[in-house]
Amino acid sequence: MNKFKLAVSAIAMLAVTGVANAGEIVIKFSHVVAENTPKGIMANKFKELIDQRLAGKVRVEVFPNQQLFSDKKVLEAMLLGDVQLAAPSLSKFGKYTKILQVYDLPFLFQDMSAVERFQSGEQGQMMLKSLQSKGLIGLGYMHNGMKQLSANNPLLVPNDAAGRKFRIMSSNVLKAQFEAVEAVPLKKPYSEVFTLLQTNAIDGQENTWSNIYSKKFFEVQDHITNSNHGLLDYMVVTSAEFWNGLDADLRNEIQKSLDEAVKIGNAAAEEKSQSDMKRIVDSGRTTVHELTKEQRDQWVTAMKPVWDQFAEEIGQDVIDAAIASNK
Ligand code: SIN
Repeated sequence: MNKFKLAVSAIAMLAVTGVANAGEIVIKFSHVVAENTPKGIMANKFKELIDQRLAGKVRVEVFPNQQLFSDKKVLEAMLLGDVQLAAPSLSKFGKYTKILQVYDLPFLFQDMSAVERFQSGEQGQMMLKSLQSKGLIGLGYMHNGMKQLSANNPLLVPNDAAGRKFRIMSSNVLKAQFEAVEAVPLKKPYSEVFTLLQTNAIDGQENTWSNIYSKKFFEVQDHITNSNHGLLDYMVVTSAEFWNGLDADLRNEIQKSLDEAVKIGNAAAEEKSQSDMKRIVDSGRTTVHELTKEQRDQWVTAMKPVWDQFAEEIGQDVIDAAIASNK
């Protein structure tokens, strides 16, 4: 074998085995969404920044679209050391803590500025530590945006949802939210939603404009309501064992790069909540409905009793702080 062939085969071997340079720390970042979403953009930006700043010391490998783990499995895998970073939706932490359920309460946050105010306040910051007893550390929040309702029939008033099956994330609050309008909620992984909709195994779902666009849900749903009835936000998490085992300077550098990447991801979230909605409207594949004030009030009246159902598990003080963030 000549020198060139030897070098090529050595590179190929490295790619196949994933062997890192001696002493290089590998951060596997697993997520379930597409790369052209706020979280996908954030993860790739984080990798880019680490490549620029910590080459040879830290290597980030990003696995989008559930290539590595589903959100159901990722936190267990993290505790086993099989993955170092993830950013599941706040709706998916119910097995680990109840306090984060506040983020799922329907019609709680007026807009993303209210979410920002709440998260940067005392309660929001305290919640980043709510997973510590389970061996996990919240490194920060990251936005996607407000959720919209979709189905094959128009959803203009709560009764339009009655008796219909909706896919939900694994959250008891979201279950109660759909039961409040007499719909049938089904907890299913994100990776199955398109097929479930396409085959009519379910009637509808709730998600943000960027998720509805990037996973093509709009192509298999005749109607989407611009309901902004709930929030889809994330917590970037790592394991305490991994994080505390890092040298302090390195940890600071990684956190700094992560914070910068989250800012870029949040800017993408803001932009995509408009542009992906427009792409969907322009596609002509579905009808997007705006609610009148009277129609919206009906959804609020039907769903808001869910707040009381979860007040004890979440803590009324936490709910009050979230309400106050609306100003
Ligand atoms: C995500 O945005 O990470 C997935 C949300 C979902 O499961 O609907």
